[in-house]
Amino acid sequence: MSKMRTIEWDSKAHQLIVINQRLIPQRLERVALSSCQDIGQAIKDMTIRGAPVIGVAAAFGVVLSALQSSSDNVTMLRQDLEQSIQYLGSTRPTAVNLQWALERMHMVARSSDQPAGIRQSLEREAMQMADEDVETNQAIARHGEELIEDGDTIIHHCNTGALATVDWGTGLGIIRLAHEQGKRIHILVDETRPRLQGTRLTAWELKQYGIPYDIITDNMAGHFLSRGMVQKVIFGADRVAANGDVANKIGSYMLALAAYDNVVPVYSVFPLSTVDLDISQGSDIPIENRDPNEVLDIQLDGERVTPEGSSALNPAFDITPARLISAFVTERGIVRPPYFKNLSQIKGKK
Ligand code: MRU
Repeated sequence: MSKMRTIEWDSKAHQLIVINQRLIPQRLERVALSSCQDIGQAIKDMTIRGAPVIGVAAAFGVVLSALQSSSDNVTMLRQDLEQSIQYLGSTRPTAVNLQWALERMHMVARSSDQPAGIRQSLEREAMQMADEDVETNQAIARHGEELIEDGDTIIHHCNTGALATVDWGTGLGIIRLAHEQGKRIHILVDETRPRLQGTRLTAWELKQYGIPYDIITDNMAGHFLSRGMVQKVIFGADRVAANGDVANKIGSYMLALAAYDNVVPVYSVFPLSTVDLDISQGSDIPIENRDPNEVLDIQLDGERVTPEGSSALNPAFDITPARLISAFVTERGIVRPPYFKNLSQIKGKK
């Protein structure tokens, strides 16, 4: 993956070229997105997914909106941009990286009084955000790699790899660096129902990196943890409240509970843009509810198994309370409890 970013900006054609994550592992295909609406739709339908990369993609949505706005008057251009920012911000509510990136673009839109200057600065800012994301992930990996020991078996939930970011990944970036440094590790890949980010995306990445893995269904994790077969649990985060509660892919909470009961450390890995100090506790984090068909549309032996007319619930994220998490790994280092104090300290630190 490292020679191939998940998203790439074509500054001549004014297009964002993205890996279509809906098609992996069947096909590695790219799709060109040419408008703010295209990008919003791709975030909604998870052509692009993963908290860090949806933030950067949304920033390019603002760039496209600026480049395509016919307004040569600064007030009208800013109005167009505000509409686009609102639209992009509404596509997925849980990952705060989206709001964080859009807020950065909003500030840049205020930084010049010339439409041409605004357009140029927005493009520069989005490109810089993309580069920063890769540097941030590599810094996360350097800090997190210390936690991994030779011989570890690690349960990993969802996909926190290169695909979830511009490149390299967060949780999976740590695993990848540990492997490159010669540590012998084995990954148990949670399939991550209902959209199977583990089975489809994480397994695909691990295969490319040559890291040994087995796919397990989400409900097998407790079994392996209770048999002493797992030394660590690693997952990402979509939003972290000031007290350290973590919103992450549905199933993270049950996994953390089972790990806690078996005294296996749980590490949540994220860039500091995922920390939302304006939200004091996890229960205040908005949880995205997705189409029930994502749960209902499941086949066994080639046949749909769900009884006709069944309904389903589909919250895409859950909250893992801070007490179940052993440490956070960020680009500025490892954060341990008390999280309320240490998260705000590290986020504030330059
Ligand atoms: O719904 P998704 O696939 O966008 O959810 C992604 C996750 O929950 C990831 O674990 C999280 O965004 C961290 S990705 C580095």
